Amino acid sequence: VEESRLSAQPEVLIVEDDFAFSQTMLVLLEAEGFQPTAVNSTAEALELFSKRSFPVVVSDIYIDERTGLDVLRRARAVEPQCAVILITGQGSLDTVLEATRAGAFDYIAKPFPLERLAQAVHNAAQAWATRHASANGSADNADSNTSALIGHSDAMVETYKFISRVADSDATVLLQGETGTGKEMVARLIHEAGARRAKRMVVVDCGSLPGTLLEAELFGAARGAYTGADRDRTGLLEAAEGGTVFLDEIGEMDLAFQQRLLRFLQEREVRPLGSTTARKVDVRVIAATNRDLRAMVAEKKFREDLWYRLQVASWQLPPLRARKDDIPELIQHFLTKFTRSTGRALRFNEGALAVAQQHDWPGNVRQLENLLERLSILHPGPVVDAAALQQDLSTFSPSALNPAFNSSTRSSQPESTALNAKPSSDSLANIEDDHIRRVLESANGNKSRAAEILGIERKTLYRKLEKMRQQSS
Ligand SMILES: Nc1ncnc2c1ncn2[C@@H]1O[C@H](COP(=O)(O)OP(=O)(O)OP(=O)(O)O)[C@@H](O)[C@H]1O
Ligand SMILES: [Mg+2]
Repeated sequence: VEESRLSAQPEVLIVEDDFAFSQTMLVLLEAEGFQPTAVNSTAEALELFSKRSFPVVVSDIYIDERTGLDVLRRARAVEPQCAVILITGQGSLDTVLEATRAGAFDYIAKPFPLERLAQAVHNAAQAWATRHASANGSADNADSNTSALIGHSDAMVETYKFISRVADSDATVLLQGETGTGKEMVARLIHEAGARRAKRMVVVDCGSLPGTLLEAELFGAARGAYTGADRDRTGLLEAAEGGTVFLDEIGEMDLAFQQRLLRFLQEREVRPLGSTTARKVDVRVIAATNRDLRAMVAEKKFREDLWYRLQVASWQLPPLRARKDDIPELIQHFLTKFTRSTGRALRFNEGALAVAQQHDWPGNVRQLENLLERLSILHPGPVVDAAALQQDLSTFSPSALNPAFNSSTRSSQPESTALNAKPSSDSLANIEDDHIRRVLESANGNKSRAAEILGIERKTLYRKLEKMRQQSS
């Protein structure tokens, strides 16, 4: 009931310090049938997020000491399906890249006609409704993030047993496994199968924030803790009270922060930055990493005591290549899912299935899912055969250099791709940056997809984008 109310008239949070402009947006969005709320500082927005979430957020980028990107990160941490529209008067490639990188739904440069904003909010509301419906899916929710895990191999059955064993406890869980093996999905299932399911699961990407920011984000900050902190801020650990905190990419945390986390796991107390008082919080922690933590412990890059602490309930998700028997079922599952959105039925013949089962799948289930989505949209006929699959796999293989990039570095065939129109004197770095932008664009800003096409890890892509941003500013 609440869902249909929300999807009929979604609530929109407006974060804008220019009062007149904020009022204009408020009136416009009300007239469009939304339920807008306006705040005029990032602090107020973050404080609101510690109590509730919004399906759609419209935020200026340059507001006060924090930016629209902070608003965006927090909004999506408490509500992963939240669609955030960022507005700025200083539109430039690097701000757009950064907004995209942080998962913004849309980006509008000032000045803009008001109907552009109205359209963007309508699109965002629709995207939210779709994402939300699939994340909270119905009985046959084949396209749900939280739907059943697919697979009957021994490794998956053991995974199901693990989930059911730990769901009802409050034990801290560590999920390990290569990229795309389903760690976040398993974390959600653990949360939803347990007693905390009525409360939320807050997702924190520990790899995307430097140590002190991560600390403020998780533990909160007291008024005056840093320049411009004009009021107390609640951290995500407190915001998740009663629920679960999913600490993704914990292998990326610096050593000092690892110690802070260990203390928290032992004492279950939160002391915000710059505050002298600690408060007890009741949250369950699920951590995940695709790094080999044991090796990192040996290299002294991960604290041994924290590692032991996380070993109490830890689980290794199998790579797809270790459970090839599940591949046909996964293919069927994703084909059914994408058929629903494309309206085109597609099937794999025996030859294609054999190729899929022999493949290595370095990007695991995510790579398989992306491939099937691509084929659902682009494959010309109703049947995918071995040759068509081979073709796609070699074009989009994470290990092969993208052919466009590859040929651009060979001056002997200058006219074969758009990139080759560049003068051969262009530096490799420039060509690379340019190529990254194109691929990101062709992937509609989807970084995971772009990283897959580029044949690099998502994190590597983030690093490169950050470097590009610094160079261009
Ligand atoms: N067993 C499975 N059955 C169905 N879908 C799966 C399964 N495992 C993973 N997926 C899907 O694969 C995609 C990647 O999963 P997820 O994001 O959980 O991976 P991850 O291990 O967290 O990856 P990364 O380390 O890159 O963050 C998601 O779309 C998820 O729904
Ligand atoms: Mg993940």
